[in-house]
Amino acid sequence: MLIKKSAFFLIMVVKKDVVEGEEIVDDAPKKKVSKKKEEEAPKLIDIPGVGPGAVAKLEAAGIYELMGLAVLTAAQLSDTAGMSESVARKAIQAARKMMDMGFVDGLAHEEKRKELFNITTGSKNLDNLLGGKGIQTKAITEAFGAFGSGKTQLALSLAVGVQLPVEQGGANGKAVYIDTEGTFRPERVRQFAEGIGANPDKVLKNILVARAFNSDHQMLLLDRVADLIKDGEPIRLMIIDSLTAHFRAEFSGRGQLADRQQRLNRYLHNLMKVAEQNNLAVYVTNQVMSDPAQMFGDPTKAIGGNIVGHACTYRLYLRRGKKDSRVCKLIDSPDLPDNETVFMIETDGLKDIEI
Ligand SMILES: Nc1ncnc2c1ncn2[C@@H]1O[C@H](COP(=O)(O)OP(=O)(O)O)[C@@H](O)[C@H]1O
Ligand SMILES: [Mg+2]
Repeated sequence: MLIKKSAFFLIMVVKKDVVEGEEIVDDAPKKKVSKKKEEEAPKLIDIPGVGPGAVAKLEAAGIYELMGLAVLTAAQLSDTAGMSESVARKAIQAARKMMDMGFVDGLAHEEKRKELFNITTGSKNLDNLLGGKGIQTKAITEAFGAFGSGKTQLALSLAVGVQLPVEQGGANGKAVYIDTEGTFRPERVRQFAEGIGANPDKVLKNILVARAFNSDHQMLLLDRVADLIKDGEPIRLMIIDSLTAHFRAEFSGRGQLADRQQRLNRYLHNLMKVAEQNNLAVYVTNQVMSDPAQMFGDPTKAIGGNIVGHACTYRLYLRRGKKDSRVCKLIDSPDLPDNETVFMIETDGLKDIEI
């Protein structure tokens, strides 16, 4: 299983290089170096003082990579991995040193970001909130909000938008829709397609839908998506609607919270890996619960707490506004100001209103 996975990873790396090679012509020698680096990226087990037992404990706590360990305090690591504080301190220092190898200069980083695609939401207001062009590949965008706030409608609109040519705000690709709540509606996709003058049959054909029956199934489906991409499906968008519902239902007992968060963390980690390796956008929806500790403002917060908050690159908070409108607020973006906008959900798509 492990061998099969790493072989598969290699195939993907090679395949990606071929595609990239066409775009960036005079970059061949550098490519080789970065490929080598990817293969030899140090793992937890390579850190002095971290044995297989400690790795197992760290993984159980949702820490899979050097970065996760490097940001801990010695006391936290000692607690988590069951080692003395002095060993922990040395391990953290070593991990930080080993990670220095991962630096790329800003220019190279900028060049890498040029491969990214954007996907229009269908609403100019929403696209602008997200920096002008909608959601982005190699990133997870989360929409959280109450029932009926528009999370699924936005998902459907994106599943249509991704199919547009790049000049029209799409990524010329297909969408995968992992439906955990049974709310995927082909009729709505037809209406959205008609709204932009596209052939509804063709648009529906380019959306690969799977119903996830429980959280294990949801996690397995991710491997299946990776297989589809390997088989040459031009997938540029993966939708998980909803990210948290199964996890929340299955791990609802008080004592199960840590377990749930750990599994959610692993899932998000894998989602990001698939997004980064294949240059695809991930859009996830999330529910809210009321937060009794909140005295002022909106007393709701997203499920999954910090684990989901930190794993998602862009977070959108959706709620109903005046006159049937929807208000969307961007929270904690790495490169955009916190801001909000308004749009309408209509039969033929998401529409703008004056703000
Ligand atoms: N055909 C339609 N025309 C106009 N509005 C619609 C249509 N279908 C759904 N909606 C709006 O979308 C809302 C449901 O939004 P949805 O995205 O499914 O919510 P959730 O956030 O729970 O996923 C409905 O309450 C309705 O206001
Ligand atoms: Mg929904």
